[in-house]
Amino acid sequence: MDGRERLRAYLEQRRELGESEFVLDGMSIDEALSAIDKLRPATAAKSSQASRPQQATRPLEARRAPRVAPPAVQRDPVPVAPARAADRVPEVHAESLHVSEERAQFRAGEDAMKTETQGLVVGNANGTLFEQNPFHSVRSINSLATLIEECTRCPLYKTAKHAVPGTGDQSAELMCVGEAPGANEDETGQPFVGQAGGLLTKILAAIDLTRDQVFITNVLKHRPPGNRNPAPNEVEACSPYLVRQIQMIKPKVILALGTFAAQTLLETKTPIGKLRGAVHRYYGIPLIVTYHPAALLRNPAWKRPTWEDVKLARHVLDSAKS
Ligand code: URA
Repeated sequence: MDGRERLRAYLEQRRELGESEFVLDGMSIDEALSAIDKLRPATAAKSSQASRPQQATRPLEARRAPRVAPPAVQRDPVPVAPARAADRVPEVHAESLHVSEERAQFRAGEDAMKTETQGLVVGNANGTLFEQNPFHSVRSINSLATLIEECTRCPLYKTAKHAVPGTGDQSAELMCVGEAPGANEDETGQPFVGQAGGLLTKILAAIDLTRDQVFITNVLKHRPPGNRNPAPNEVEACSPYLVRQIQMIKPKVILALGTFAAQTLLETKTPIGKLRGAVHRYYGIPLIVTYHPAALLRNPAWKRPTWEDVKLARHVLDSAKS
């Protein structure tokens, strides 16, 4: 078997397992298979076409490169939700996230999470974090947003088109924190409006939440040029805004989306694979870590872990109510 045959066999195997994405720039599995066919002599391509299994019925989409590098370690140290029939993973795909049936199953499976794994603790519930904040005297999310729009605390305002302060319910129970605005967010001034944002909307729907019911923001409020990684001085300059948002919104749960947000909030270099699956505390507020939606678009295998993470978030939210 030459390299092409081996690649074809591998891709066909992944497709049979239900995957359509291909972890290379902008190519679906079917596009890659068709590209391979074009390289082959006509007869060989024909016979291979004949042996190809049924095409996936889902629409296939090209994937863009993720903004967040995959973590070095993808490991689940302490799975919170045990695998059980009632715990089936819903489709967490950009093109289809069918959740209604799974929601009912999820409710039935909630008792599986009676014991939560406690994670890292940053600050204490009555911490001094907030008093030290330069925006301590700012009294509303809107006033803070105005300050963010005028911010010159780091050089990013010079290259960005718009600041992206955050959006959603100002007394939301769930606060989603991403890394930094990308190109779409920079254009619009709204967080998570690109392809990853579409997926975030579907992930939230999987736990019965709309974007309007949560507050969505990022660690950085201005886009780093070319989506490069945020620099430490930018994080330092911008963090007081996020801290003040958290203080005013007082969410019941913070959902950290991706390595960068998780490691920044939890003040750790621990890889995301080790941070998932536990309930951390950020100044007393439960904080749950999950994969960044952009990374999830590229790695369909992270659907199940992401589903488990958001179920845990839902569970903690529901526990806070009762
Ligand atoms: N990625 C992020 O981390 N935040 C956004 O707002 C968009 C993409």
